[in-house]
Amino acid sequence: MKLEKQYYEITSQEKVKKLGQYFTPLSIAHFMSSWIMECSPKSILDPAVGNGVFLKDIDCENIECLGYEIDSDILNFFKENKRFNYKVLIQDYLQSEWDLKFDAIICNPPYNRFQMIDDRKQILDNFSQKLNFKISGYTNQYILFLLKSIYQLNDNGRLAYIIPNEFLNSGYGNKVKKYLIDNKLLYAIINFDSNINVFENALTTACIILIKKEIHKDVEFINITSEEEFNILSNNFFSSDIQRKRVNYNDLNYKEKWGQYFDHSEQLNYKNLVKFSKFAKAMRGIATGDNSYFVFNESKRREMNLNIRSFFPCITRAIDVTTPILSFETFQKLREKDKNIYVFDGTLYKDKNNEKYIKMGENRNVHKKYLTSHRSPWYSMEKKDPAPILINVFSRNRLKVIRNLANIKNLTCYHGIFILQNYDHLIDVLFCYLLTSVGQDILYLNRRQYGGGLDKFEPNDINNSMCLDFDLLTDEDICNIRKLYDKLVLSESSDLIINELESIFIKYLL
Ligand SMILES: C[S@@+](CC[C@H](N)C(=O)[O-])C[C@H]1O[C@@H](n2cnc3c(N)ncnc32)[C@H](O)[C@@H]1O
Repeated sequence: MKLEKQYYEITSQEKVKKLGQYFTPLSIAHFMSSWIMECSPKSILDPAVGNGVFLKDIDCENIECLGYEIDSDILNFFKENKRFNYKVLIQDYLQSEWDLKFDAIICNPPYNRFQMIDDRKQILDNFSQKLNFKISGYTNQYILFLLKSIYQLNDNGRLAYIIPNEFLNSGYGNKVKKYLIDNKLLYAIINFDSNINVFENALTTACIILIKKEIHKDVEFINITSEEEFNILSNNFFSSDIQRKRVNYNDLNYKEKWGQYFDHSEQLNYKNLVKFSKFAKAMRGIATGDNSYFVFNESKRREMNLNIRSFFPCITRAIDVTTPILSFETFQKLREKDKNIYVFDGTLYKDKNNEKYIKMGENRNVHKKYLTSHRSPWYSMEKKDPAPILINVFSRNRLKVIRNLANIKNLTCYHGIFILQNYDHLIDVLFCYLLTSVGQDILYLNRRQYGGGLDKFEPNDINNSMCLDFDLLTDEDICNIRKLYDKLVLSESSDLIINELESIFIKYLL
């Protein structure tokens, strides 16, 4: 940022302060511009251009780019030294045209108080009229910039703003928070922890607001505590190595302080929690190395003329099990529906057809695949016991938890939960707990997040997550849980029973 240093040398401190001429660090500007570019915009707006850092690397020959800058001096300084290949209007953005719309908007607005601005009353009146709510004279300028930009954003467009984070916790932020909730626009807020000084020459807090103009179910609150963490986020927005919390719009209240969502320690508001590994161990399912070769349904088995003794029964796809109880009857139904429920293991049985099938695998080079080439013989299968409880690896909002009463093995679509020997008697209690929303919420704190609201658990994410200390349950409650479990096994619908179970567990957690 050599040029920026030169700019500060020739410009009065007073002016820099009055116009809020503080520059976004390159790494942050790059992150923000990459994020807006993901929606392949045809038009982009930067309402406070300054040194033009945001649109610097964007191909403005093929995208309509427009900027606003109130100060011609700063523009001329950076124009002389850099090429601005897009139109910048020398104008007050707050008084500019409202009806121009853009696919993407990116901005680091001035942060100074609005009371210092001329034409204040006229601007506020205009804002209140356009937005249909009254705006207080104490509103900071950056809020006005943000509100106007949201108004100018096209449907399905993206907006990235870097602004101070105070509005999240103070009264003057309520209007904008309400606006964001009502319209369900907010996609994520990335907060920079107070120990990070984002701007070289200005002591201010900072957060990045990401808006996608489409309906969302929840908002992601991400807390960055070091430069290194920001680099991780820039490389992988969904990285689980960063403190993040997803809050459903229905749970967001504009009158509450949103700063709470960045405090990781507050996420564990429950008591009597211990590590999951105190009671049970999660282990991944069987990996065949080539499902198209090893996995069978009844028709394929008959077609290949293979003896049933060459197979073991197995759950091979997560969607095949739809109820919390996997009984012999449910498994039988999967067989009747000709689902893929057999896994071939060439060592279980020997006959001519079996040998022919193994030969066929070799002709297809199945034995040269990564996993098969590490097994001896290649057509044998991993020896794993059936797990009493199954949990699906990928989920959306809710985990699928299955009590495996049919004693069937599973492929990697599910993780197996094995209870430790001295807690054998609590297997059904653990299962019931994992079915409840509160049990899942606590477990979810350890999930890894993928795109499109997809969550993933590795076995160790489960082992290292927290759960209720079942040692505290009274004999009476254990007895009640068991009765509800028995009802669950017999019943068609489980929601009411799960609610009753939750009311028992919650007594210990709150
Ligand atoms: C915080 S700087 C951002 C500069 C650059 N975009 C960046 O991120 O490094 C804000 C810029 O907005 C300009 N500015 C201040 N008030 C403005 C207004 N009402 N309309 C347009 N630009 C304004 C300032 O002169 C300054 O260059």
